[in-house]
Amino acid sequence: MKYDFTTKIDRSNTGAFKYDFMPESLRDSGIVPMTVADMEFSAPPEVNEAVAAAAHHGCYGYTGPDKAFMDAVKHWQKTRHGWDIEDDWYVVTNGIVQALGIAVRAFTAPEDSVLIMTPVYHPFYGAVLDNGRQLVTSALIENAGRYEIDFEDIEAKAALPSVKLMLLCSPHNPIGRVWTREELEKISEICLKNGVLVVSDEIHNDLIMPGNRHTVFASIPGAEDNCIVCTAISKTFNLAGLSCSNIFVPNEKLREKFSKQAHTDGCGCVPYIARFATIAAYNKGSEWLDELISVVDANFRLLYDFIGKRLPQFSVTRAEGTYLAWIDMRSLGMGHEKLNEFMVEKAMIADNDGEMFGSAGDGFRRWNLALPKAELENALERLEKAVKEL
Ligand SMILES: Cc1ncc(COP(=O)(O)O)c(C=O)c1O
Repeated sequence: MKYDFTTKIDRSNTGAFKYDFMPESLRDSGIVPMTVADMEFSAPPEVNEAVAAAAHHGCYGYTGPDKAFMDAVKHWQKTRHGWDIEDDWYVVTNGIVQALGIAVRAFTAPEDSVLIMTPVYHPFYGAVLDNGRQLVTSALIENAGRYEIDFEDIEAKAALPSVKLMLLCSPHNPIGRVWTREELEKISEICLKNGVLVVSDEIHNDLIMPGNRHTVFASIPGAEDNCIVCTAISKTFNLAGLSCSNIFVPNEKLREKFSKQAHTDGCGCVPYIARFATIAAYNKGSEWLDELISVVDANFRLLYDFIGKRLPQFSVTRAEGTYLAWIDMRSLGMGHEKLNEFMVEKAMIADNDGEMFGSAGDGFRRWNLALPKAELENALERLEKAVKEL
């Protein structure tokens, strides 16, 4: 390995949500939390150097997507995803959750509905409901530990006259699916037929486990004029705190609407530090990312192996993408509140309650595997001990 994915980084007193906002009882336990979706690894050193140089320059003024920035963004999408982007398509936001809210406000009226597939990253609910729109959900079908789209249900829901927008999570947090081209083609066809616009949240697009392939929604024939694609450096390179997301709206009319709402909401600048980080990450971060994926993949394998051999009463969804594991602990027969207590007080593990992603997640836990292997081993041993003591 050229890069360091084994050193435990002390993130306490940095304001990190994962650490400085951990339940009191776990604060001094020395554990590595597996909650919020950021990583326990330093960003690529090439990015850290660029950020340090930008800070050294010292003039933190208003900054935009200049040529060097756009060239890096285009280079990444072309080389990593085979997607050709035009400069005009680009709109900056300060996060993808923000972009989801912008799209909901730009493209729907209060009486309209927005379609989502559940269980899903919890701010998808808020992007709709907190903006005063109606929510229409389609439950993913759990099939022997793998989640599939209920296309009959999607057809029916997309055909409802009130449904104007679909928020698609691709790859899908928390169940780790990397939707296949065929699945995305079907979604696109149904949405086009019913006049439903697709916002494709592709924040996990670079975190694809070996043997799987991410398809950019806009690359599907016919989809380009009916979608908004949301990407970022944040998940890929552990740069979420830089608050910069790259949104692409190929269709001019849609882009005008989206940009107008984005400006109304105060977007327009590429955060100064994020400009330099983006250029370095997208031009020089490929090798680091390949190593990261092999580390996360090895962590998934460790988890499958441990659960299979030592905690067979549980099961884990096979992750095709993301660094998030979805663990089925329904066999403990605890509701999610009791399970939360068990995790914090008995297992001494900080993870996410599956129920926060939708009621179908009751009895599941989401573990963030972007951490050194030794820390995952520590968590698994704690879990095994706590289960034995039940
Ligand atoms: C699917 C998905 N979308 C968006 C986000 C957050 O994006 P941002 O920090 O850019 O708002 C996350 C973070 O976990 C996520 O998993």
